[in-house]
Amino acid sequence: MTSIAVIGPGAIGGTLAGWLSQVPDNEMTLCVRTPIDRLVVEVPDGSVVEATPRVLVDPDAAKPVDWVLAVTKTYDTQSAARWIERLLGPTTSVAVVQNGVEHMDRFADLVPRERTLPVIVDIPAERSAPGRIKQRRHGDVIAPAGDLGARFARLFEGTQLAVTLTDDFLSAAWRKLALNSAGVVNALTRKPAGIARNEKVAALMRAIAAETVEVGNAVGAKLPDTLPDEVVARYLASAPDSVNSLLADRLANRPMELDARNGIVVRLGARHGIATPLNGMAVAILEAS
Ligand SMILES: NC(=O)c1ccc[n+]([C@@H]2O[C@H](COP(=O)([O-])OP(=O)(O)OC[C@H]3O[C@@H](n4cnc5c(N)ncnc54)[C@H](OP(=O)(O)O)[C@@H]3O)[C@@H](O)[C@H]2O)c1
Repeated sequence: MTSIAVIGPGAIGGTLAGWLSQVPDNEMTLCVRTPIDRLVVEVPDGSVVEATPRVLVDPDAAKPVDWVLAVTKTYDTQSAARWIERLLGPTTSVAVVQNGVEHMDRFADLVPRERTLPVIVDIPAERSAPGRIKQRRHGDVIAPAGDLGARFARLFEGTQLAVTLTDDFLSAAWRKLALNSAGVVNALTRKPAGIARNEKVAALMRAIAAETVEVGNAVGAKLPDTLPDEVVARYLASAPDSVNSLLADRLANRPMELDARNGIVVRLGARHGIATPLNGMAVAILEAS
């Protein structure tokens, strides 16, 4: 058996935990803040994946496991630390499944570097209630190639969720950041993905993504000049009512991952002498709202 603890079974953590629970060799524990009775994940073919894993609400009740998936929002990393302290044994590996490009930095004080795996997820998922999740479509789950990545990928073997391993995780993470940074317009306008059909908004998204691409390339990612157009095309191709997690947080009056998605572009842009006025404006407006 492989013991796995998912810290934060929200939209993405719940989707991953739902699939992982389908593998007989996986022994699942959900580490939650808000109690849930079971996991119900509506998956892309319209069927429902249901699971009743062990649920813990108190970090003191947790014991070391083989794998931890840390899937809280980036702004909840510190509160997840109490779980990590309890779940981490001498051989535990930790997959940091979060947006942004700072996975390793965020967990540097919590987990040995060689046992930390950064993971990018490009799957749209939404949570309607605690433990109730809709996975909108299949998408990419990307981790760095290597032994740790290969072991993480094996956890999902036999499920409909495949993990892609890449030799250039930096570029993969920045590619996702370009998409996410443009998604700030959804939080600004309080409108779902369909707002990209407005041509002025599409031009703004393209320009925000272009700033991110320039900064990403300056820090070593290899991103094509065509990426901003691809970003807009992605928003145009998504369901018009699809809500990204920044917008979901804003609508629910929760904190937002603004620093991880746009603030980072401004910070690293400043370090490399690259102007990022649009990302900066978005951060300023949302922080002040
Ligand atoms: N949603 C998407 O479509 C999507 C797509 C790609 C990437 N991502 C990224 O994936 C990451 C997770 O996002 P999400 O959308 O899954 O967020 P989410 O739905 O808000 O889920 C986060 C979960 O973490 C839980 N949590 C917070 N602090 C905790 C703690 N101390 N102990 C235990 N649980 C805790 C929350 O509990 P409560 O139930 O109490 O709120 C919630 O269940 C983010 O970095 C996001 O940007 C999301």
